[in-house]
Amino acid sequence: MIKVDISNVWGQLSLPDLLSMEKEVAAAHQTLMDGTGAGNDFLGWLHLPTAEPTEEMRRISAAAARIRADSDVFVVIGIGGSYLGPRAAIELMQGVNHNIGKGKGNPQILFAGNGLSTRAWNELCRLLEGKDFSIAIISKSGTTTEPAIATRALRWMLERKYGTEAAKKRIYAITDPSKGALRQMAQEEGWETFVIPPDVGGRYSVLTPVGLLPMAVAGMDINAIMAGAAQSQKIYDIRSFENPAWQYAAVRNLLYRRGKAIELFESFEPGFKMFGGWWQQLFGESEGKDGKGLFPATAELTADLHSLGQMIQQGQRNLFETMVRFAPPVQEAVVGSDYKNLDGLNYLEGKTLSFVDEQAFLGTVAAHVDGGVPVITMDMGKLDYPKLGEMFYFLELSCGISAYLLGVNPFNQPGVELYKRNMFHLLGKPGYEN
Ligand code: PA5
Repeated sequence: MIKVDISNVWGQLSLPDLLSMEKEVAAAHQTLMDGTGAGNDFLGWLHLPTAEPTEEMRRISAAAARIRADSDVFVVIGIGGSYLGPRAAIELMQGVNHNIGKGKGNPQILFAGNGLSTRAWNELCRLLEGKDFSIAIISKSGTTTEPAIATRALRWMLERKYGTEAAKKRIYAITDPSKGALRQMAQEEGWETFVIPPDVGGRYSVLTPVGLLPMAVAGMDINAIMAGAAQSQKIYDIRSFENPAWQYAAVRNLLYRRGKAIELFESFEPGFKMFGGWWQQLFGESEGKDGKGLFPATAELTADLHSLGQMIQQGQRNLFETMVRFAPPVQEAVVGSDYKNLDGLNYLEGKTLSFVDEQAFLGTVAAHVDGGVPVITMDMGKLDYPKLGEMFYFLELSCGISAYLLGVNPFNQPGVELYKRNMFHLLGKPGYEN
């Protein structure tokens, strides 16, 4: 079980504060599980770990094996909830440099359609030159502009390279089972398709083919990931403050009620950066509405202690931190000895890097708590595939409970539409003249 340590918030909150929320948290959890709250037609993610059809899992593994065999590069097209989850998972498990040295047998994974940058597009074209590649188009609505533009261009690249018929075997579509332009295109063109269940919203979709196909292509064990999530579905159903999801949801809401405006979600792992991005969308899009919500920010430690550290320590007292910790890896690194000791580091001789990292973590928590910043610690334990599934489910559950405590619908995102309407008007899209 993930351990949530809230001992470093007690300077600003008290145990009675937390206990006074018990009924409220119990009600929020119950509302979520009973499906009686706002957005209750988007609760499919709650049961996904035990509900994903075996046949779909088998087809995902078969498609992944084919892509691994016939492609140097696998391009994942999608934006927001249709891309952050798989990228977060791959970078956390394999590191930010996971593509270096990869090719056929274990393809590189590149992401496209998550922006409109010409530079990024030109770079992608350069990276694909002379490479065998396949693409997955991920879009629940099937109509999002950024992935649609990338799809059109990459599909043509494939057709020019392999011919129309052979290209079809390199295109995979992940979308709604019946609606949207992508579903229609896939049907008409004969692309292999996978389903995003209609009752699972984008930011809760990482444990559907949205996350599972790219993870499988990256060589990750998707059955173990789903097993971890399934375990999570059981163990985080406890209805008391023994449940770490309760502790996290309640404390962040209490801190918000006490005037905190920003939650800084951090880890000491560089590979965690995109996971932070996934978390940011999950909480930001679920809670940021009706004039409410904590602003979800992320930082990478210790690197950002040398940029944001000053602000965290002594800037406006409007934030708290959630620090995510993992058990050290099996393969340790040790600080060596230098007989001249000109850098003065011999006092660390023989110490593991993990030990130094742990002292940095403890020192940082103590400093920030002294500076009036409450710190929640999330101790994930050993990082492996079941843990990854557990982390996804745990945070989704915490988010659902937290958003109901805040009094908002966690499953809609009405504010995302405005920029699209303006952009369509400026682009002259038919139907957006006014
Ligand atoms: O969480 C969400 O619903 C959004 O972030 C969507 O995932 C994002 O806008 C992409 O939408 P679509 O999958 O329909 O292309």
